Amino acid sequence: MGNVNNDLYILHFSTLKYIQKKSRKNIGEGTMVKLTAEMKEAFGKMKVFPVATATKDGTPNVIPLGIAELVSDDTVWFVDNFMNKTLSNLRVNPRIAFYLWGPEIKGCYQVKGVADIRSSGKEYDEMKAKINIKNPALPARSLVIVKITEIFECKPGPTAGAKIF
Ligand SMILES: Cc1cc2nc3c(=O)[nH]c(=O)nc-3n(C[C@H](O)[C@H](O)[C@H](O)COP(=O)(O)O)c2cc1C
Repeated sequence: MGNVNNDLYILHFSTLKYIQKKSRKNIGEGTMVKLTAEMKEAFGKMKVFPVATATKDGTPNVIPLGIAELVSDDTVWFVDNFMNKTLSNLRVNPRIAFYLWGPEIKGCYQVKGVADIRSSGKEYDEMKAKINIKNPALPARSLVIVKITEIFECKPGPTAGAKIF
C-alpha cells in the first residue's frame, strides 16, 4: 500500500506546479521577446542591474545585482548570492523587471520578464561552477532564470514609455 502522506504531498506538489505553470503563461511566458543587437550591446555595458520585484499584493522592491549573463537573446541569468526579499517575492510573484541604461549606453530599455528559481539541475550546476571559478567564496545559492516577455523605451523624449516588443 502506498504512503498516503507521500501521495498527498505528490498530488499537492503537482497541483502547485500546474498552477505556477498556468500563471506564468497568463503573464506572458508564451510571448518571449528577443533582444536586438543594440539592446545586447547595452546589456554588455551594464555594471550593476537595478532589479525590481514585487510582493503578491504589489509592494515593490528593487536591488542592485552585479552578476548577470545573457545566455540567449531572450534569457537572462541572475545569481542569488545574497537575495532575500527578492527571492521571497519571486516565489509568490515571478514577475521581474530591470532597465538597461548607463552613461556609456546610447538608448534606455525597460525589460520585463518572468523568473524561474533553480537550486539544482544542469543549469544551476553550470552557473555555480562558473561563479566559483571566479570567486569560490560566493555561495551561488540559486539561479534565477529570466525569460524576457516585454521591452519598453525609457529614453527621455516623445517615445518614452513606448512598448518596443
Ligand atoms: C553593486 C552590488 C552588486 C550586487 N550583486 C549581487 C548579485 O549579483 N547577486 C546577489 O545575490 N546579490 C547581489 N548584491 C547584494 C544584494 O543587492 C543585497 O543582498 C540586497 O540586500 C538583497 O535585497 P532583497 O532583500 O531585496 O533581496 C549586490 C549588491 C551590490 C551593492
